[in-house]
Amino acid sequence: MFTTALVQPDAIQTPAFPLDLFEAIAALKQELNAVILAHYYQEPDIQDIADYIGDSLGLSRQAASTDADTIVFAGVHFMAETAKILNPDLLVLLPDLNAGCSLADSCPPEAFAAFKAAHPDHLVVSYINCSAAIKAMSDIICTSSNAVKIVSQIPEDRPIIFAPDRNLGRYVMEQTGREMVLWEGSCMVHETFSEKKIVQLQIEHPEAEIIAHPECEPPVRRHASYIGSTTALLKYASSSASEAFIVATEPGIIHQMEKQTPGKQFIPAPPTNNCACNECPHMRLNTLEKLYLAMKHRTPEITMAEDIRVAALRPIQRMLEMSA
Ligand code: 13P
Ligand code: SF4
Repeated sequence: MFTTALVQPDAIQTPAFPLDLFEAIAALKQELNAVILAHYYQEPDIQDIADYIGDSLGLSRQAASTDADTIVFAGVHFMAETAKILNPDLLVLLPDLNAGCSLADSCPPEAFAAFKAAHPDHLVVSYINCSAAIKAMSDIICTSSNAVKIVSQIPEDRPIIFAPDRNLGRYVMEQTGREMVLWEGSCMVHETFSEKKIVQLQIEHPEAEIIAHPECEPPVRRHASYIGSTTALLKYASSSASEAFIVATEPGIIHQMEKQTPGKQFIPAPPTNNCACNECPHMRLNTLEKLYLAMKHRTPEITMAEDIRVAALRPIQRMLEMSA
């Protein structure tokens, strides 16, 4: 029997968004005197509308030097939180407050306080991918682009706790020759890459160079001809003579790689399972629509207790001084 689909009247809704979101966001930017800071793992549209796209260090530097009244942070919670720690008087918006980080979550403050208490003479170096509460318990913050530089500046006789990423910690130990006590945290995205599938891909693309983020596990890193932060990987891909790359980090970065060097080929490193688990589910919670709504309604806003903010600011400032 032939049936026709009925269109229910309540399914016909007035569009919630302006036709041209790019234009509407540009107008709100003027109204709020806002700057849009975006990480490379954001969807391409967000990267294209941002005033600045960068890695965690670049984004922190931008946040530290902005003269805007509002920071719209297209990234994850710890990144927006860092911007707020640096700018307590500014409105800091995060399009989706649920955009967390598995690595930051792998280091709960109470457990870390006990870990720190068990190593009372140790200096605490924490990767920026952690909560404000962990930053407040740290002596120096680092990012993937300055971790080696920072640890190298610490006197040899000073024992170090490195938290929360065990993979970056191991990489820094290899690079500096320093022993460190590692917190056993990790990133769900960078631990998803399959060494076996990467090796198979390299056999299919012998001309391709493997490049990796230091959050990857040692068996994946071992195959990489270059290891670096997202900004470092981007710079390397454009300066290297190679025409093809297997990229072992979140594939959002490939948008900028293709924009910078249109003729080259960028192949995302495959995850172990047949899934899109190499895409960061937290980063991808932000959308252009949510960014527009956050600016329109001036929420969700990042807030935190002032005592935590003040304590977390000191190790971030130390990082900025030590990596100037
Ligand atoms: P970058 O410091 O390279 O931007 O890395 C941030 C991050 O979250 C990687 O997973
Ligand atoms: Fe956190 Fe990993 Fe996502 Fe980076 S890629 S934000 S470390 S979960």
